[in-house]
Amino acid sequence: TYVVIENCIACKHTDCVEVCPVDCFYEGENMLVIHPDECIDCGVCEPECPVDAIRPDTEPDMEKWVEFNREYSEKWPVLITKIDALPKAEERDGEEGKMEKYFS
Ligand code: SF4
Ligand code: F3S
Repeated sequence: TYVVIENCIACKHTDCVEVCPVDCFYEGENMLVIHPDECIDCGVCEPECPVDAIRPDTEPDMEKWVEFNREYSEKWPVLITKIDALPKAEERDGEEGKMEKYFS
């Protein structure tokens, strides 16, 4: 599976949802997640994210992100079309400590 990681928080560009063939992105207030059981591992979303917030779970230390994506994809609604990025997306790209500061 692929997962969304911390740098999506406070950016939420949503280019990723446009390309997903199985519509497995779910939308929270300030980030998206991927449902790990629905993702077919096609990889097309990874290069679409302008802030590099999508990773394959084969990378090191991804277990916590798989669990995070699973938990919230079961709570949040599906998003199938691109929407506007969050207002400060560009200035918050790469900022440290996004989870503590902006996740809700
Ligand atoms: Fe969707 Fe493919 Fe990305 Fe999985 S890897 S979330 S199936 S676009
Ligand atoms: Fe987030 Fe990147 Fe998609 S910022 S919403 S993972 S395009």
